Amino acid sequence: MVDPLPRFPQGFLFGCSTAAYQIEGAVHEDGRGPSIWDTFAHTPGRTLGGDTGDVACDHYHRFGEDVALLADLGVGAYRFSIAWPRVQPTGSGGPDAAGLGFYDRLVDALLERGIVPLPTLYHWDLPQALEDRGGWLDRDTAARLGDYAGHVAARLGDRVRRWITLNEPVVHMAQGYAYGTHAPGRSLLLDALPVAHHQLLGHGLAVQALRAAGAQEVMLTNNCTPVWADGDDPTPAAVYDAFHNRLFNDPVLLGSYPDFLAAALDPVVHDGDLATIRTPIDALGVNYYNPTLVGAAAPDAPLPFELRPIEGYPTTAFGWPVVPQGLTELLTGLRDTYGDALPPVYITENGCSTTEGTDDRFRIDYLDAHLRAVHAAIAAGVDVRGYFVWSLLDNFEWAEGYSQRFGLVHVDFATLRRTPRDSYHWLRSVIGS
Ligand code: BGC
Ligand code: BGC
Repeated sequence: MVDPLPRFPQGFLFGCSTAAYQIEGAVHEDGRGPSIWDTFAHTPGRTLGGDTGDVACDHYHRFGEDVALLADLGVGAYRFSIAWPRVQPTGSGGPDAAGLGFYDRLVDALLERGIVPLPTLYHWDLPQALEDRGGWLDRDTAARLGDYAGHVAARLGDRVRRWITLNEPVVHMAQGYAYGTHAPGRSLLLDALPVAHHQLLGHGLAVQALRAAGAQEVMLTNNCTPVWADGDDPTPAAVYDAFHNRLFNDPVLLGSYPDFLAAALDPVVHDGDLATIRTPIDALGVNYYNPTLVGAAAPDAPLPFELRPIEGYPTTAFGWPVVPQGLTELLTGLRDTYGDALPPVYITENGCSTTEGTDDRFRIDYLDAHLRAVHAAIAAGVDVRGYFVWSLLDNFEWAEGYSQRFGLVHVDFATLRRTPRDSYHWLRSVIGS
């Protein structure tokens, strides 16, 4: 018999998260243009087994069934992302009414079931036409994001009150532009830094566009990791913390870049940019998966830190260490670092992958332990307002294709049949009580 979970504050929001390219499929329908993920996934050798998001979970056609699964689970909110290339197939110009129509129907279906829609404007699927002009290395992409935000808000803003601008700009910069393991597959290492600034500038412009359309609650979702130092020298860990966490939190919450990176960013930061980036947000979205252990790099290494494996914890199918107390550490650390500048926090993603056929006890234990870790942070005084599981469905796990399964609901990718897992039933009883 396990201990029942502690009670969460009144109004605490439970939800699930997904992202457009990972679940929708229907990549050629209703005028959708190609995104960098279509290009990348169709490039031989980029994804495991050559998997693509062409069909994915076919959510575009089956969203009614998926909304029914959410309703039955009892979640108060659903975080999904809007595919920019459905709204503006080439990344600029007037919006595509048919593409927006899909989100219109999805939002209505959610509201009918009493589920709060929480769309993310950008979860990595840049219109390919913008990448052809430089992508996030090009300052103009920030302005394009602001323009896109305005179009989406004009269509959905009468019913959607809460918004997320970007998902994990750090992962997009690092994997997409520094290491080349995600779309657009560029391996620029430290030369990828302008991608951080341009995404943040786009975030600020998007916040302004959403506010102008009457948004009530706007947030940015960052991937945050507690950074642990390996060895006696704390410097490499501090440097990594600057790159992964502070680069994306400091300018938004404090209006400045961390000292260590300010000089490197100087050439791309124009007068007024930091004020735009600091446009107040109402909440910070935090995605947490695991801490990061950092040691000193070899003298001739291209990066000023070295990431090391964390030993002594169970690992997910991905090989990521399971460290629930890292989430408490992260949340109390954010509070200690930012004090009054930290707005309320939502955990906008947390979850684990398993492989086909694994007993679902692993996911239940994972979620149980991380919910306790969130509760401990609340008890320590951090204002955490909600928790979203990644993910509702097994889906296209980027470079790993369909091999890593994060779903509360199993998807058979041959038949697209959905089957709730034990963790789905478990979470339903947690929410119900
Ligand atoms: C990292 C995780 C991170 C994830 C995001 C992984 O490579 O180990 O910390 O949350 O990428 O996709
Ligand atoms: C991303 C998701 C991804 C998950 C697991 C996060 O970095 O936002 O799209 O599926 O981690 O890797």
